[in-house]
Amino acid sequence: MSAPLPEAPMPNNEFGDFQTPIELARALVSTLPRTAWTRVLEPTCGVGNFLSAIGERHPDAERVGIEVQPEYAAAASAFGRVITASIFDFDLARDIAWTSATGPTLVVGNPPWVTNSQLSVLGSSNRPARANTENARGIDAITGSSNFDIAEFIWIKLLAEFSDRPVTIAMICKTQVARNVLLHCARQQLPVTGSSLRMIDAKKWFDAGVDACWFTVELGPGKTDYTAATYPSIVASQPDNRIGVIDGQLVANVDAYQRSKQFDGISSLMWRQGIKHDASAVMELTENDGPRTKLGASVDVESEFLFPLFKCTDVYRGKLTEVSRWMIVPQSHTGDDTAQLADSAPKLWKYLTDNAGALDGRKSSIYRNRARFCIFGVGPYTFAPYKIAISGFHKVPQFRMIGPYDGRPAVFDDATYLLPFEDPAACAVAHALLTGQEATDLIAALAFWDSKRPVTKKLLQRIDLSAIARATDRRALRDRARAVHQDSSSIDQAIDNFTDPT
Ligand SMILES: C[S@@+](CC[C@H](N)C(=O)[O-])C[C@H]1O[C@@H](n2cnc3c(N)ncnc32)[C@H](O)[C@@H]1O
Repeated sequence: MSAPLPEAPMPNNEFGDFQTPIELARALVSTLPRTAWTRVLEPTCGVGNFLSAIGERHPDAERVGIEVQPEYAAAASAFGRVITASIFDFDLARDIAWTSATGPTLVVGNPPWVTNSQLSVLGSSNRPARANTENARGIDAITGSSNFDIAEFIWIKLLAEFSDRPVTIAMICKTQVARNVLLHCARQQLPVTGSSLRMIDAKKWFDAGVDACWFTVELGPGKTDYTAATYPSIVASQPDNRIGVIDGQLVANVDAYQRSKQFDGISSLMWRQGIKHDASAVMELTENDGPRTKLGASVDVESEFLFPLFKCTDVYRGKLTEVSRWMIVPQSHTGDDTAQLADSAPKLWKYLTDNAGALDGRKSSIYRNRARFCIFGVGPYTFAPYKIAISGFHKVPQFRMIGPYDGRPAVFDDATYLLPFEDPAACAVAHALLTGQEATDLIAALAFWDSKRPVTKKLLQRIDLSAIARATDRRALRDRARAVHQDSSSIDQAIDNFTDPT
């Protein structure tokens, strides 16, 4: 196995070569149903560890492997009949000459860990040609996108080619690939009767920093089912969750979605992202007997441009009682001309022009043809005194209600999402709605916690606060709102505004 690069866990070679250790292959094969397999196929079989593990457990099964690298194919030949070829040149259901009679068929393996764009960078020809796959349903959709995963392509190819017969396909892949494949099966109405994911510790087994799983799909006649039980480990005896496609949507927790789908709609309030500036050394200051740069230099700018800053980790941890950072907010809209600061705020102008190198050097194209010191994620909502904030990066949803500090509204980094409020009672009711069981279930249903940014603006915008307000017991809502806002006089009115936002 080639050593992965520290920054890029995927192997930097055109064969996506991560050989499965024999102990892992044995453990994974032991999770399969104890069917007496007649035929076992391993596309991309490498040195043949899966063929070997299958042979130990199912010595009577006819075992066939395909492998493009001749030295690997030669090694794998000890455990079955191995064809030295590229799977992209085969219809895997039809082009293999089996000697055994038709019977229970298993496809196992660990397809290459590489994306199409990585192959492009390598100038590799080891990738599917669209012409070879014209009969495969849904393949065009995936090959049409420039950065598809080769493993996802192989899954879809196998499912298309075997869709007319009963077969079990069980392969190691990224959990993201498994989810995409499940959605593909539902969209194409493939005859899937059951599936499951077992989480694999990819760091331990492959020294790779990805979320990987052992994904098993049963194809055959019977009632279709596009949900998959998920097991926390390869040895777990019980699943801890079920993901799946419900009403055409992929959800992260089927049970939670069934409980909360009536709240999956459109938020009556607009979620916003925190401020993006790509120049933290200049725009973010620490509080240390007044605002200072990270290097400790005191900064003297007009105070109306300084706002208490909280980062997503502060929001997640609830570290919100004291102001330990400030953000310079030089605009009230992204479109404002910052050159006028020379007259209206000379101290700020001097500070920004003295430190212009970091701002002028911002690489992202969003800053091109914009005001010189512009920022993003700023508008009237930035200056609202009360806010609900949540980190987009953390794995547990924590909504926080945040008021002004000495009259200055709090601002957030761009990994934080927020709802702005003028009225603290409305903010408290929104907090109560977002932290109740209904919203908690809906977020559990929609957020895939292994994503880099599991909570997104799009997800938050789906939480129908009005529907939750109408379904929630009024007294319980009032009590929860009072827990974060003591002045109860306007809470009832705020609840009414949510139940009937028109
Ligand atoms: C992730 S490794 C897994 C090997 C083996 N299945 C295992 O589990 O140990 C992927 C394998 O796919 C092989 N491979 C890559 N492209 C291929 C292709 N077009 N046709 C057949 N095998 C291929 C590589 O040489 C490598 O052995």
